[in-house]
Amino acid sequence: MGGPFLELVDVGKSYGTVTALRGVGLAVRAAEVTCVLGDNGAGKSTLINIISGRHAHDTGQYSVDGEQVRFSSPREALDRGIATVYQDLAVVPLMPVWRNFFLGSEPVTGVWPFRRLDVATMRETTVAELKKMGITLPDVDQPIGSLSGGQRQCVAIARAVYFGARVLVLDEPTAALGVKQSGVVLSYIAAARDAGLGVVFVTHNPRQAFLAGDHFVVLHHGEVELDVSREGLSLDDLAHHMAGGSELDALERELERGRDPAGLTGTSGEGQAGMRRIPGAPE
Ligand SMILES: Nc1ncnc2c1ncn2[C@@H]1O[C@H](COP(=O)(O)OP(=O)(O)OP(=O)(O)O)[C@@H](O)[C@H]1O
Ligand SMILES: [Mg+2]
Repeated sequence: MGGPFLELVDVGKSYGTVTALRGVGLAVRAAEVTCVLGDNGAGKSTLINIISGRHAHDTGQYSVDGEQVRFSSPREALDRGIATVYQDLAVVPLMPVWRNFFLGSEPVTGVWPFRRLDVATMRETTVAELKKMGITLPDVDQPIGSLSGGQRQCVAIARAVYFGARVLVLDEPTAALGVKQSGVVLSYIAAARDAGLGVVFVTHNPRQAFLAGDHFVVLHHGEVELDVSREGLSLDDLAHHMAGGSELDALERELERGRDPAGLTGTSGEGQAGMRRIPGAPE
């Protein structure tokens, strides 16, 4: 069974006077999709930045495989198997897909001073790895910039899986995508989970989270508002918590009052009827 791959306990982070996270706990387990939800400014990216080694936490503990860590760069997180796919994918648009697949970790062949990039291996591996994830591209020689946003996200996911990631962190991978492309990305998230990875899926969208997620953490003003597994949770519950629970109730009551027939009968109700019977109007 084993504990979680990575765990945050009571983590806090401030930027100057702004407290972005306070007392946050999160556990990422193998073969599980953990969705991190929350409104704008809730602290999702801050949380992801801590996990991925971009920023260090101020308070609390961050551990990987039960061992406390404090990363000072994304490279250190990557060395521990934590790969992050950012929304603005770090790709070189004009380079072929296979070149981007191996960017920064290119295999070489030959003996010094005749060492050169092992193009054949890169090309073959890229085709094979994409195929494993169920991704079929007409041509891995095409520039990655010519792929759709969804396809690029999928290549990035396949790449992380190939390079041995154990935790895959995706910061709003579907934010800029249409319904169909989002569906494709969601299915690769499931494929990564089925390959045994722990996935952290950040999204604004409770519906997508509910489709893909096994565990849900909702942040609200930098604190954990909800931390539950899928069992017994409905999409409505999730949407409700995401919108800030009690704040949503208050808003609903507010809107309900606006719709109150008692408030309308005296004005538009009669007014409408009156409009149809304007004295002197034809018919
Ligand atoms: N580098 C930074 N410097 C100063 N303040 C920051 C920085 N990053 C985040 N913040 C602040 O921390 C809070 C949380 O921001 P964060 O980006 O984590 O939210 P988010 O949930 O990712 O929001 P969004 O959905 O808009 O991406 C916000 O109040 C934000 O202004
Ligand atoms: Mg963000």
